[in-house]
Amino acid sequence: MIGSAKPHELADELIGRAGELAAAVEAGASEVASLDALAELERTVVKGALAEVKKGIKAVDGTDRARVGQALSAAEARAKAAIEVRRHAIAAAQRSEAHERERLDLTALGTGYERGHLHPVTQVWRELEDIFLGLGYQVYYGPEAEDDWHNFEALNFPPGHPARAMQDTLYLEVGEAESTLLRTHTSPCQIRLMESQPPPIYAVMPGRTFRRDTMDARHSPVFHQIEALVVDRNVTMGDLMGTIDVFFRALFGPDIDARFLPSYFPFTEPSAELGVSCPFCERSGCRTCSNTGWIELGGCGMVDPNVFSAVGLDPQEWSGFAFGFGIDRIPLLRNEIDTLHTLLWDNDVRFLNQF
Ligand code: DAH
Repeated sequence: MIGSAKPHELADELIGRAGELAAAVEAGASEVASLDALAELERTVVKGALAEVKKGIKAVDGTDRARVGQALSAAEARAKAAIEVRRHAIAAAQRSEAHERERLDLTALGTGYERGHLHPVTQVWRELEDIFLGLGYQVYYGPEAEDDWHNFEALNFPPGHPARAMQDTLYLEVGEAESTLLRTHTSPCQIRLMESQPPPIYAVMPGRTFRRDTMDARHSPVFHQIEALVVDRNVTMGDLMGTIDVFFRALFGPDIDARFLPSYFPFTEPSAELGVSCPFCERSGCRTCSNTGWIELGGCGMVDPNVFSAVGLDPQEWSGFAFGFGIDRIPLLRNEIDTLHTLLWDNDVRFLNQF
């Protein structure tokens, strides 16, 4: 059809046809919604039909060539521009859709934030320090990795002593076998303190302690203790009992009683097991205190002369008392929460938030 017209008519026809195709591309491009459909439009119209029209220029009369050439180029430019504009628009729309789809919604639960608080064990730890600072004691921290001397020997546990076996020690592979360990109690701090400063000493030593226990409802391989040591002249068992009495009342309130039962520890003589009257049943007996009315917290006693000798203090001149007990049950006892203290380690904020 294109080649059959007369020269001038052919020129007009080509120009008209190119104009129509350009308009068709503009209209079509504004309708297609995908890059694929747009590519198809480009292939069939711009590279197909319009390219076909351009070939017709060979048959155009020489005098019309420039006019037709310009018009066809203009039509082709219009068509290509329409395709490009649309391509950008579709790509931009797809990008923002992807952004929207992949966006992280950081506003979830974002209607204000809850302020945390210290862990219940940390709260009690600090409160214990405060109580003793108020009594004029110093606070001292020893290392968690200890040597056999401080953890055992200087505390009057000689090698092979049966009381060592009760401690379920976790040894570290450092130096000679069984020479370095994770402290099984805070008592080694007593030795470090007496080695580092002369008496009189009035000190508490809180910290983490470790034993070879498997985690279960009542046991944890990591737990907390606080140790107290007094070294002075003429210290008596009465001083020990009076101090514990004052301290327990500061911690648990005025209705609580302390109990001392004869016991044995290598580093104190005499020694006593330290108990507190059961806050749940006020001593009438319940499940928490195994119907005894008392809850065992730790041990205490008068510093054994061998311990003084181990640190170079004269047992004839100096006397003292010591006590040590677990911190972990205290937040529960104080809040009368009859549960097992290992709940404290689960870090479930629904539980911890109650303290
Ligand atoms: N260290 C002991 C333990 O972990 C507790 C203890 C008992 C500490 C008697 C003392 C004490 O200071 O005098 O089992």
